[in-house]
Amino acid sequence: MTADPIEHPRPAPDVMLQLRTATATEHQQLEDTLDLLDPGLTPARLIAVLGRMHAFWTTAEAGLDAWAAARPDDAADVDWSARRRSDLFAADLDALDAPPGPGPGPHLPAPASTAEALGTMYVLEGSTLGGVFIDRHLGTLPALAGVGRLSAFSPYGDQTGARWASFRRSVRDHVARGGDPDALVAAARRTFATMALWCTDVEQPASRAAGRPTDPGDASA
Ligand code: HEM
Repeated sequence: MTADPIEHPRPAPDVMLQLRTATATEHQQLEDTLDLLDPGLTPARLIAVLGRMHAFWTTAEAGLDAWAAARPDDAADVDWSARRRSDLFAADLDALDAPPGPGPGPHLPAPASTAEALGTMYVLEGSTLGGVFIDRHLGTLPALAGVGRLSAFSPYGDQTGARWASFRRSVRDHVARGGDPDALVAAARRTFATMALWCTDVEQPASRAAGRPTDPGDASA
């Protein structure tokens, strides 16, 4: 039996897997910085984080709205108008008796193509997955007992899985129709990096601030 002389083309890598792999480090960094699953999360730190998120979402959504105006059919395909969330962050801040987030938000250029828009949206929509865990955790904190349920972290409730599945379908369809997966992944990385930078100096847990060495020299002390 001889070896098959025909070279079979390799199947294209799945764009959703590419997105997750290419942004895993940035996701972990952001998760660590925000530390929203901290059992000692205080209302003041939650307000600080929500404020940053509100400003970030406002900026990101303005760019996506500009893209949607230029590409209404693509925006309808991914149900963009029902994925907007900046108002929910504002409502959550209001429920906590806090002002809206600091404006203006970070510099985040408007997506130049549908591939870039979907890359940006990947970051925003994916956050609803972790949001389910965050929402559940917030419900256990005595310090937030009087506040009622916040809505921005987990806006879709029991529809979270279905909304994510339909987003993933839209992304894969776009790439199958010739959309550029590299542009999509690059936009997701840019969006994550911008958010991580925007949040680096957000208020940190008191426990961490107390336990953390003030300079690298202290680490070996
Ligand atoms: C402390 C904060 C966060 C925690 C604890 C967290 C946790 C998680 C968890 C557990 C998942 C996987 C859920 C699943 O597969 O069912 C996930 C997915 C994801 N999160 Fe977060 N997250 C946090 C913040 C964020 C933020 C702020 C963003 C972006 C703005 C973000 C973006 C994403 C994305 C894009 C995914 C989808 C990954 C994929 O499967 O491709 N997360 N997160």
